[in-house]
Amino acid sequence: MENHVNIQFAATALLLLILIARFGAGQYQDYAYKYAPRLRFDSVEGSGDRCFPQSAESYYEARKSGNTDRLCNLDYDTVAAGSVPTYWHAEVCGYHLHIAYWNFYGYNHDCDCCSGERDAWFESLVVKIRDYSLDERLHEVRFSQKKGWYTRVPGHYELVSDTHPVAYVGKTQHGYYHDDGGTGTCCYYEDYRNPSDVDQHMDTWSNLVRFDNSSAWMTDPTTDVWNGINSPPFRDDWDLCALNGCTGGYLWGCSTCGCHKSDIGEDPF
Ligand SMILES: *[C@@H]1O[C@H](CO)[C@@H](O)[C@H](O)[C@H]1NC(C)=O
Repeated sequence: MENHVNIQFAATALLLLILIARFGAGQYQDYAYKYAPRLRFDSVEGSGDRCFPQSAESYYEARKSGNTDRLCNLDYDTVAAGSVPTYWHAEVCGYHLHIAYWNFYGYNHDCDCCSGERDAWFESLVVKIRDYSLDERLHEVRFSQKKGWYTRVPGHYELVSDTHPVAYVGKTQHGYYHDDGGTGTCCYYEDYRNPSDVDQHMDTWSNLVRFDNSSAWMTDPTTDVWNGINSPPFRDDWDLCALNGCTGGYLWGCSTCGCHKSDIGEDPF
């Protein structure tokens, strides 16, 4: 009899623990999956040192163990099969839920004959779910590229399967744009992004990893591993409630001019 009660007690406690753990880790996770972007790549991505995303953790571990090789993922199969993670975190801002999705690239190729290449690059897309608990709807989407960003409202970006925004990925610099095109220079909107019939893409919801401080790279504030840049948790745009709509000029030029394509200007995101 006493054993029976103990087992029941243990089972109840275990169930509670599982529920608590699930709630902690799973907070906002359903939203993260539902609104995760599809990345569309240029038709020549995967050739000539034009890399697909890869695991930031593996890159970090390789550098930490002294590997100085170029680490560039040219294997589309890894992307198509969902074995490359996209990292996310979420923040409630008033009635709204902001979710940021981050990808890591091991190498950026030159964007013209001879400039722009570097090792290690993070790129992000942020979605705003308005009234997420009462009247949930995807609204603004913030696309980041190079040193800038801009924000689009519904109808001004593409969706797949109703809830997943589409980001076109620059061929060499891996910026995220709401449209395809480009003329193949280093100017702000000109990195090529022509998926063509090849249609290489990555459905990021097939492999999402939360920024949960569970692996060393997520909590390391140093920048040498990343060739001088900060990893996402240590960047100015980590606080998702403090974002604005765009940066850079409103006139379309070669230098940073994100505001040219922003539907909300520089207003708070
Ligand atoms: C990760 O660590 C940072 C710094 O200590 C903390 O602010 C943040 O809340 C942690 N994130 C999670 C998901 O635990």
